[in-house]
Amino acid sequence: MKTWIHTTKQLMILALMGFVLTTSLGACGKSGSQNNTAAGQPSAAAIAEAKSIFENRCVACHGAKGAGDGPTSASLNPKPRALNSAEWQKSVTDDHIRKIIVGGGTAVGLNAIMPPNADLTSKPEVVEALKNYVRGLNESIKRPGK
Ligand code: HEC
Repeated sequence: MKTWIHTTKQLMILALMGFVLTTSLGACGKSGSQNNTAAGQPSAAAIAEAKSIFENRCVACHGAKGAGDGPTSASLNPKPRALNSAEWQKSVTDDHIRKIIVGGGTAVGLNAIMPPNADLTSKPEVVEALKNYVRGLNESIKRPGK
């Protein structure tokens, strides 16, 4: 009888391990396909998440239109970059923008006031969408010739 209980416990542990393994393998497959999507166009969900991240984390310093005039910008030195500047947009690569979003100012040799967003390291698709959002702030898109 004692041996039987022992074996049942072992079986349950084995079953549990099997479950955990299957679940984590499933999760792996999922994140794999997310990465594939990141190589192309970000999904609608990633675009929505990026927009909400910009509003919640970036607007305070960079301003709603990216003009560098957010509520906390006045007290900062250096000032937050005017992301709507066509000049600045031309001067940076997409990779530079992705890097500063994830790693903060120090990741690209700029000031540490520009904070890192370490939680986005595992979300390349959202980083891509956020980079696109920043690109979309370029004033020359709306007012060509200015
Ligand atoms: C606490 C204020 C603050 C917040 C919040 C903030 N930034 Fe910044 N950001 C800065 C400052 C200050 C600079 C300029 C750093 C410098 O010139 O050394 C900067 C610079 C940048 C640059 C330009 C880098 C360059 O080459 O000039 C980009 C792009 C940028 N931020 C994007 C973002 C995004 C996207 C977010 C939100 C995820 C964000 N920032 C949140 C303060 C902030």
